[in-house]
Amino acid sequence: MFFLEKENKFLRATIYLLPVIILGVFSLTKNLRFISLGMLHPNFDVIFESYRFNLIIQPILLVFFGLIYLILLKFVDEIKLVLCLALFCLISGIATFAFQYYVTVVEPQKCLIKYETITTDKLTKPISIVHFTDIQSAGIGEYEASVFKKISALSPDLILYTGDFLQLNKALEFDNQWEKLLKLFKQVKPRFGIYAVFGDTERELYSKSVEAIKPIKMLSSKSESFEFEGGKVSLHGLSLYQSKNPQWAMRSVEKWQEAHSDLDYFRIIMGHAPDYALALKDSEIDLCLAGHTHGGQVNIPFFGPLIIDSKVPKRWAHGFTQIGLPALNVSAGVGSNRFNGLPPIRFNCPTELTLIKLVPIKTTSY
Ligand SMILES: [Fe+2]
Repeated sequence: MFFLEKENKFLRATIYLLPVIILGVFSLTKNLRFISLGMLHPNFDVIFESYRFNLIIQPILLVFFGLIYLILLKFVDEIKLVLCLALFCLISGIATFAFQYYVTVVEPQKCLIKYETITTDKLTKPISIVHFTDIQSAGIGEYEASVFKKISALSPDLILYTGDFLQLNKALEFDNQWEKLLKLFKQVKPRFGIYAVFGDTERELYSKSVEAIKPIKMLSSKSESFEFEGGKVSLHGLSLYQSKNPQWAMRSVEKWQEAHSDLDYFRIIMGHAPDYALALKDSEIDLCLAGHTHGGQVNIPFFGPLIIDSKVPKRWAHGFTQIGLPALNVSAGVGSNRFNGLPPIRFNCPTELTLIKLVPIKTTSY
């Protein structure tokens, strides 16, 4: 430093480098500790700590060090070295803040529209379904309104929602926010209706009347079927518990199949968690729908989704998969809040909704 003899060049360079080296070693050991404490298992508290350290505390320290190095430039002889350190700290800090913005704002509000097609000999005319899930909003606002605008623009024939409507900040009232959300649902008017199942976050809805939830029809532990000019569709909804327990789901599905043994029906099952599908690989079901996993929210290259909170294989936990006789669509969801204090971030797993087209087998275009 400026107070050391000019001959002690090496010592001065080491002193300048020391804060960056200490931060690097501290960051490395802290992250190894997060992993050893169960960040990837996952342990929700450790994940939250890791988020706070890596995306908030660390960039603040980097920018702070960068500014100190800039001030030091006035007093030192090693201008090049100190300038390099200042730029390194400032660029790394700002890049981390930019990354934080990306994972907390850009991906969570992207809401991609994914398109899937199922060809079937059970229908003679096509039908389009919007499957979406896990709005899980902490307060209904512009983002949620934009999602419903996208759905309206798709003009689906049928809307199927697989649970987790709201996850409110403590200050907000459920009824008030539910009214706002219901208003958005009322804007979309699919000709075959809107059906949903309960997720983990809306116990308040259990006591509401059918009228109070309209136009949504809750299908938890219920079935519904309809006919149209192109064929017959049968829907079966699982309760939250059934969706998480393949054996209980199977009992419910078998009863429904007995009541709808006519295989002419295009059969769709909805459950909040995808675990139920583990029991249905050989069942005469056409389509299984689920949410709950949020696609993992953080999808690490070569590792896969960080947390799926489900026993299904990771490759089932997000997207459209032929799991046997049925196809399974597990949507990454519209929202990014999760229970247990997980940070609402997304990386390599943006929010989404899915347009599924059921196309008669002889029709080549829709
Ligand atoms: Fe959820």
